[in-house]
Amino acid sequence: MASFAKRTHTCGELRPAAIGTRVSLNGWVDVRRDLGGVIFIDLRDRYGKTQVVFNPQHNDQAHQLAKELRSEFVIAVTGIVEARPEGTTNPELPTGQIDLLAEELSILNRADTPPFPIDGDVDAGEDLRLKYRYLDLRRPSLQRNLQFRHRLYQLVHRFFDENSFIEVETPVLMKSTPEGARDYLVPSRVHRGRFYALPQSPQTYKQLLMVSGLDRYVQIVKCFRDEDLRADRQPEFTQIDVEMSFVDEQDIREISERLMQRVFKEMRGIDLALPLPRLTYKEAMETYGSDKPDTRFGLRLSCVNNLVGDAGFRVFSDAVKKGGVVGGFIVPGGGSMTRNQLDGLVEYTKSLGAGGLVYARWTENGVECPIDKFLGKELLQKMVEQMGGKQGDLALLVSDGWLKAYTILGTLRLEMAKRLKLIDENKLDLLWVTDFPLLEYSEEEKRFVAVHHPFTSPNFDDLALLETDPGKARARAYDLVLNGTEIAGGSIRIHDRTLQSRMFALMGIGEEEASRKFGFLLNAFRFGAPPHGGIAFGFDRMVMILTGMKSIREVIAFPKTANAVSLMDEAPGDVDEKQLRELHIRIL
Ligand code: AMO
Repeated sequence: MASFAKRTHTCGELRPAAIGTRVSLNGWVDVRRDLGGVIFIDLRDRYGKTQVVFNPQHNDQAHQLAKELRSEFVIAVTGIVEARPEGTTNPELPTGQIDLLAEELSILNRADTPPFPIDGDVDAGEDLRLKYRYLDLRRPSLQRNLQFRHRLYQLVHRFFDENSFIEVETPVLMKSTPEGARDYLVPSRVHRGRFYALPQSPQTYKQLLMVSGLDRYVQIVKCFRDEDLRADRQPEFTQIDVEMSFVDEQDIREISERLMQRVFKEMRGIDLALPLPRLTYKEAMETYGSDKPDTRFGLRLSCVNNLVGDAGFRVFSDAVKKGGVVGGFIVPGGGSMTRNQLDGLVEYTKSLGAGGLVYARWTENGVECPIDKFLGKELLQKMVEQMGGKQGDLALLVSDGWLKAYTILGTLRLEMAKRLKLIDENKLDLLWVTDFPLLEYSEEEKRFVAVHHPFTSPNFDDLALLETDPGKARARAYDLVLNGTEIAGGSIRIHDRTLQSRMFALMGIGEEEASRKFGFLLNAFRFGAPPHGGIAFGFDRMVMILTGMKSIREVIAFPKTANAVSLMDEAPGDVDEKQLRELHIRIL
């Protein structure tokens, strides 16, 4: 038999229909108010809050004990549901029509004063919240986020099941797969000096599952990457990982779009129009200065090379001659910015690595610009007009190599949108970015490396470029971008051993290294690999954006700090000397 009155209802359940009945509730004391001898508490559990009234005239014993109650005490209370007196109902609360007139109270556990208030969404310091995460998780916003996350898991499982996908678990202790980040390594006790890697993604396994004939694979899976952390990055995060056989880009797009349509509808009640907009990488860079453009606002970039290539400003004409870009964007109404504000912008742009920032204000006196003596008023006016500006506007311009100029402009564009509050936070803008470059040159490693991963297929139209101008070859890769965050990425894979070896060679991975690292995959391709491709969605990022959170930590139960530390359990921690010895490890 239970030693306390087990709940007959949850704290979010009682409505006027229950008035007059005797019920028991279990939960936490949210707030306690002592009003002229009558004690009111809000009793809280995951489902909601119910007001409980301890009236000495109704039951003196319960009232006496209730004096001891404090926030976060765990109690069981039994009483009669009654209608709240007129004028005291709370339309904000689903249980706001009733309260519970207490007759019996048991204190099941007392609580120290919490390090921060739980009863609302007050702003406690994040470190404190993470240290006491189990208390933080009692707060309504985090409970909402975890429930949202739960509903999204269910939706994803249902969706892929309905579409004939099979969920397969892949190993967590595996051989390293290159996704561009550092691996987390696990030393082997049995095999001295050897290491497992935690998966940066199950990429190789899902490809092998296609060789096995699974045809349609899905997995909601943890991935581990030792990389610099940001608001949208965690060292361990969750992917919806997908792979399909006998497909091309169109098929992956189609299933992904239908998933997103379902997610938008069921999770947010939004009808998502399909097909989604598509931008090539080149278009995205040249219009928004980013491969994950935030399209919720304008400030579109444009290039003025045609006007300034031969004009009298050396910095610009040199950039054009060297094959670079002079480009920028118009800030509508920005002509009224002060000299001081503009100097601040110049400094900010320089901090991004730019040589400088040229600005031109179109005032009543025409276009004013610090370098007008070099370019001439007429050309300046033409330039601002070509960029889409009018009187009262401001043009901002940067010159550099193609990638650097557009990247700087992209960051400046975002910064201006934030400063001018141009971003509509209620909007959800989803689009594809396609035709990424296949390879990029790594100055550090002095070789080409895969932009996506080394199993991504080149665009067949660009095969001839592989040996002549590899940096120009496009990949059959695609990303999904939501509000300026990459929420999914994938590609059509190479399923042919010869092409895969050619790619490895291009990346300076010799046959011996390829065979040591990926021999199992290359071998598998000898036994009939179907054409295949896939995509992986960043689950945490999706939840973050769809719940309107600014940080991925708000949607993960036990996240790590930007330093990759768990403040609550203090991971990573020390281990015993004995454990190290068994693993053949000595700390230097
Ligand atoms: P990719 O590396 O693009 O592709 O990862 C897929 C998606 O996972 C999310 N993501 C992250 N989320 C939180 N924290 C991180 N550190 C983090 N890193 C990535 C992003 C990203 O779009 N195997 C390939 C997929 C494929 O080719 O099918 C892969 O992992 O939202």
